[in-house]
Amino acid sequence: MGDERVLRIEGLCARVGEAEILHGVDLEVRPGEVHAVMGPNGSGKSTLSHVLMGRPGYEVTGGSVTLDGVDLLALPTWQRARAGLFLALQHPTEVPGVSLESVVAEATRQSGEEPGESTHDVHDVLVREASRIGFDKRFLARPLNVDLSGGEKKRNETLMLGALGRSYAVLDEIDSGLDVDALAAVSRRIQEATDEDGLGVLAITHFSRLLDVLEPDRVHVLAAGRIQAVGGPELAERLEAEGYAGVLAEAGASVGLPAGVTHPGDDGHDAGFGEDPFADPLA
Ligand SMILES: Nc1ncnc2c1ncn2[C@@H]1O[C@H](COP(=O)(O)OP(=O)(O)O)[C@@H](O)[C@H]1O
Ligand SMILES: [Mg+2]
Repeated sequence: MGDERVLRIEGLCARVGEAEILHGVDLEVRPGEVHAVMGPNGSGKSTLSHVLMGRPGYEVTGGSVTLDGVDLLALPTWQRARAGLFLALQHPTEVPGVSLESVVAEATRQSGEEPGESTHDVHDVLVREASRIGFDKRFLARPLNVDLSGGEKKRNETLMLGALGRSYAVLDEIDSGLDVDALAAVSRRIQEATDEDGLGVLAITHFSRLLDVLEPDRVHVLAAGRIQAVGGPELAERLEAEGYAGVLAEAGASVGLPAGVTHPGDDGHDAGFGEDPFADPLA
């Protein structure tokens, strides 16, 4: 398929357990672009992020996802990461006994870009990344996300994003839990990654404030498992001011839940997926 560089999601349908959550999602993110995805609670935003990264328990029932021509859905999660995809989780996993620094060192080794890269280099990169977002470097040696506040976890995710240098990033509510200063620093760091490194971003958010610094090329409204409306940055402002009902009514959609969903509001933590690398090991 040549060397076209794009993260392309076409007609993506997926189910979790008995419920069909995604009903044909179409989205294209090119290098350097920022695409915001907004949508009511329970509309399938986190489901989309999990399906893209290959979380167990999420079954793709139709459509395709390619990253720079690579069939992402055919790959296990770690190979999706290696192909260039980064996911910042809405609820970052706590990993007792493993530091952020070892996670990034191992991920760097696994991606095989620089086999000679020493843990020293990783440390330097992380210290630099921490200072770029005004994060205390003592967090680097702490067990990953353990006993951190919501906002500190989101800054950990941002550190990993900066240090790993993937091509495309899916950010699931990276702004939630951040105070005003941290939000400004985090959005600035992500914007710089798009400008300097050509990072393509799919940013799931509820708030236009993230998008004041992180300038979206397009804003997509996901509801009932489908993109129902697309617009420019002004759409995010309108949604924040007016809510979803008006925009969705114009698009001929309702705010209703996807068919088959009986318990809105959670993120599938009760799903009993068995062996799940995304799960909180203490839960
Ligand atoms: N394991 C599951 N079984 C059934 N429904 C689920 C499961 N996990 C999530 N859902 C439902 O899927 C819908 C979409 O969830 P999610 O993608 O987390 O929404 P969002 O991130 O947009 O708030 C929600 O209604 C949620 O309750
Ligand atoms: Mg969510």
